[in-house]
Parts: sequence; structure tokens; C-alpha cells
Amino acid sequence: MKLPSAAPVAFLALTLSVSVSGCGQSDDGGLDEKSLKGATIGIAMPTKSSERWIADGANVKKELEAKGYKTKLVFGEDDPDQQVAQIENLITQGVKALVIAAIDNKSLNNVTQQAADAGIPVIAYDRLILGTKNVDYYASFDNEKVGRLQGRYIVEKLGLEGGSEKGPFNIELFAGSNDDNNTRYFFRGAMTILQPYLEKGQLVVGSGQTELNRITTLRWDGATAQKRMEDILTSSYKHGKVDAVLSPYDGISIGIISALKSDAYGSKAKPWPVITGQDAELASVKSIISGQQTQTVYKDLRKLAKVTANMVDATLRNKKPRINDTKSYNNRVKVVPAYLLQPVSVDKSNYKKVLVGGGWYTEDELN
Ligand code: GAL
Repeated sequence: MKLPSAAPVAFLALTLSVSVSGCGQSDDGGLDEKSLKGATIGIAMPTKSSERWIADGANVKKELEAKGYKTKLVFGEDDPDQQVAQIENLITQGVKALVIAAIDNKSLNNVTQQAADAGIPVIAYDRLILGTKNVDYYASFDNEKVGRLQGRYIVEKLGLEGGSEKGPFNIELFAGSNDDNNTRYFFRGAMTILQPYLEKGQLVVGSGQTELNRITTLRWDGATAQKRMEDILTSSYKHGKVDAVLSPYDGISIGIISALKSDAYGSKAKPWPVITGQDAELASVKSIISGQQTQTVYKDLRKLAKVTANMVDATLRNKKPRINDTKSYNNRVKVVPAYLLQPVSVDKSNYKKVLVGGGWYTEDELN
């Protein structure tokens, strides 16, 4: 920028602190205060069909607004094309940053390129976006640990730990959507715990379906899981019963429970198997209290929203956001710097302490 040769010092100082390039940038390359104040952040969530994403949308919005940003929040109805169109729209509307929880992790390459071309940083929210360099940061939980918590819960509940020779127990395995990067992390975590018992024959998968691509559940759909469980019960459990089900998500657990109910589980002859889950959704916590689902993995989404808003804010100010993982999440083009929060296993024994004590639900909501 060319300054008048006789520019008074005050003018110089003011000009430098407000704008070096004259186009809304601060002297360290981030947005200046004025541009930051008016900035709108686009938030693209995958669906309203599950209560967690509604909470995620509201939480991220709240945290960003508390920092003085405006927000535009969209939900993609679990349709990848719709999500792409929504994000294109947000870019056209001039958002200054994007927070995206992908529906299909591989469908966003073009749109994240458009964002990069427009100088818009992208934060992958909870689910990593794959196959592109144009994702700046990743905010999520330790997803492999989620799986380990589920696997360990099954092993403990069946009394298999500590060199016990109990078994064989029948187990069935369910995984999440094959287009969600988290799916393989959850499954890998669970299998590191379960595999030794499968090898020793203390756990047996009655259906024989153990490969990840045989057991995924497109878009995490409960009805799809229900159908698969019904088929498994018909084909593989004419004799004998299921003792445990690895389920990666509460919505899937609900489908599995419906299938089991239709097959007279929950009776003396066929007690409920150990059934895991994730997200501590209200219906599932109630199911845990009433003894149908056994466990869930709670992830404090309020913390995730805070981490995300900090990432957005730091990035726009051209500062380094707080990250605590620089190795776990390779998106096939680069390792995306991440902040990973800790998941917590919840069952009947600790839901009050964790969920009510932690202010996630009130006693009233659970009764
Ligand atoms: C995953 C997420 C889980 C669960 C699932 C289905 O990506 O990490 O917590 O919500 O989607 O919505």
C-alpha cells in the first residue's frame, strides 16, 4: 500500500492496525476485527433424523455467535448431493469459514476446492472429509477409543476377562455407514478387543459375517439394521441365542432391539443380549434404564462445539488453533491436524453420574 509521504504517525498506526492490504486482512494475514465481526460462518450438518445432529447444529451455532459471528446452519437430509448443493450455496452467500459434518466423506472434493479457491477454511466436524487437501482441521472424538469401549464392555459383561475360559458366546457385529470415515475407526477399535476371543472360540459370530463390508449399515439407518438382524435371526439362530451385539450407534441399536423383540428376546428363555451403542440419545438411555439396550458411548457435544468454534476463530485470525493430534487422521492426501475429545462408556450403573450429573439430561427427561 502506498502511503502519502507526509502521513501523520497516527494515520499510519491506525491504517496498519486496521488493514495492511486494504481488503479486510489484518497484518498477520487473518481477517481484521471489522471483517471478523460481520463474518458469517456456514455450518453443514448431515441430517435432522437423529437428535445428536440437531444438538450439534444448535451448539456450534451458539458457540460461534458467542464469539460475535453470524451463522447459517443447514441440514442435508442424509443426501450427499443435497449437502454439496447446500455448501455451494453457502459459498455463494459469502461465508468466511465452513464447518462440515460430511454425509459421504468422498463427495465433497469439488465443493471443498471451491471453498479453497474462495479462501474459505474448512473444518471437518466429527466426520473427516477424505481425498482432499482442502480440509484445514478436524474436530472429533477419539473414534477408535469409542470402538474399544464398546468391545471392552461386551467382554466384561460376558465375564471373559482375566483368563476366564467362559463361552462360547454368540455375538453379531454391526458397523456404521460405509461412507462415514468414523465407521472403520469404531470397528477397528472394537475388533482389537474382540478379536482374541474370536480366535480362541470364546466368541462366535453365528452368522459368519465378520468382514467390515458385510456388516455396514448405510447412513446409520435403524430400519436397515433391523432388517439385517431379522435375517440373521432367521438364518443362523433357529437353535441357540444371541448373547451379544456390537452396535456402533444408538439408532442402529434400536433397530436391532426391535428385531430381537419380534423374536421373543427379553423373556426368561431368551434374555436380552449385551447390546452396545453410541451417542447417549434419549430413547436409548431410557432403553438402558429399562434393561433392553445395555450400554452407550457418551460424547459431550457441547465440548465438541467449543473446540470447533475455537478452530474457526483461530483460523480466521490466522492463528494456530489448539490441536492435540497430528497423526491419527490421514485423509489419503494429508494428515489432518485434529483435536480429539474423550468418549465415555455409559450404562445403568453410571448414567446418573455422567449424564444427569454432567448436565446433559435432567432426571425428569429420563423418567
Ligand atoms: C458418526 C458419529 C456417531 C454417530 C453416527 C450416526 O459419524 O461419530 O457419533 O452419530 O455418525 O449419526
